[in-house]
Amino acid sequence: MTSHRSHWHILGAGAIGSLWASYAVKHDLPTTLLLRSDERLSQFKMAGGILATLAGSAELLPLAAESCEQNGPPIARLLLTTKAPDSLSAVASISPRLASGACVVLLQNGLGVREELLKLRPDLQCYHAVTTEGAFRPAPFQVVHAGRGRTLLGGGSNDKALARELSVGPLVVTPDPNIEQALWRKLIINCAINPLTALYRCRNGELLDNPQALQQLHGVIDEALCLAPHLQLGDVFDGLREQVLDVVANTALNRSSMLQDIESGRRSEIDYITGYLCRVAEQHGIAMPINRQLLEQLKALPGQ
Ligand code: PAF
Repeated sequence: MTSHRSHWHILGAGAIGSLWASYAVKHDLPTTLLLRSDERLSQFKMAGGILATLAGSAELLPLAAESCEQNGPPIARLLLTTKAPDSLSAVASISPRLASGACVVLLQNGLGVREELLKLRPDLQCYHAVTTEGAFRPAPFQVVHAGRGRTLLGGGSNDKALARELSVGPLVVTPDPNIEQALWRKLIINCAINPLTALYRCRNGELLDNPQALQQLHGVIDEALCLAPHLQLGDVFDGLREQVLDVVANTALNRSSMLQDIESGRRSEIDYITGYLCRVAEQHGIAMPINRQLLEQLKALPGQ
C-alpha cells in the first residue's frame, strides 16, 4: 500500500539520484525530484521526465519534480545525491522547507558534508549511505543502470527503517551499524584513484601502466595506512591495498568522476576526498606528503 510509505525528496539529479528516482517511480515509492532552479525544472518538464535504461531498454519515466527556488510542502525525508562541494548551498536553498529533525541521507563521494550540514541545521538527522551500484548519465535527465552493486546505510538509530524505505526494486539497501568503516574504505579508494586519474588525464586502468602514477597510488595507500591505528575503527584498512587494486581493475575503462569534473571545468570533490584525509591526518599529527602534494596540484588546476 503506497499510502503508508514515507514521501522522499531527492536532491541531485546526477546518475545516482536519477537511478533512485527512476526505481522509486517504478516501485511506487512516493518521490519528488528537487531541481536546482526554475530553469532546470522547465528543462526537466520539456524532457518529460527521466529517460531510464534500467534493464537494457530505455523508458521515459514521468516523475514529480520541484524547483529549489520555489516554496513547497515540508520535507521530512531527503536523499542527498549532489556532489559534495554543492551540497551545503543546495541544502541551504531548501532549508525553510526541511522539517525540524528531518532525516537526510547523504549518498555521495567524499566526507565532510555531514559536519557542514549540522553546522547549518543542528536539528537534522544525518545518515550516510555508500553504494557500489553502477550508473551513468549519458545526458541530462537520462540514466543507465550499468551494473548491480550493494548499498549500505547507517549513522543513526533509524537506519533500519530508512534502509527499508530506500530499497526499491533491485536497489537493496542494508543497514550497517559500522558505516564509518565503509565510508573510510570508500574515501581511501577515491583518494588513490580520483586525483591521479584527474592529473594524468587517464582512465582508471591506465594507472597500472604508468610506473610513476602507480608508485604514487601505493604512496597514497601507505600514508592512509599510517592513520588506521588512530581512527579506532578496528581492522578498517585490512586488505585495503588489494581492494583499491581490484577497484582499479574492475573499473579499468572508467573515467573517474574527478577526471570528468576537471575536464568539464566543474569544481571537483578534492576538498572532500584528499582534503578530508589530510585534515584528519593533521589532527592526529601525521604527515601525508604525497596526498598533500596531490591536493595542491589538483587545487592549482583552472576552475578549482
Ligand atoms: O569517483 C569515481 O569515479 C568512483 O568512485 C570510482 C570508484 C573511483 C570509480 O571510477
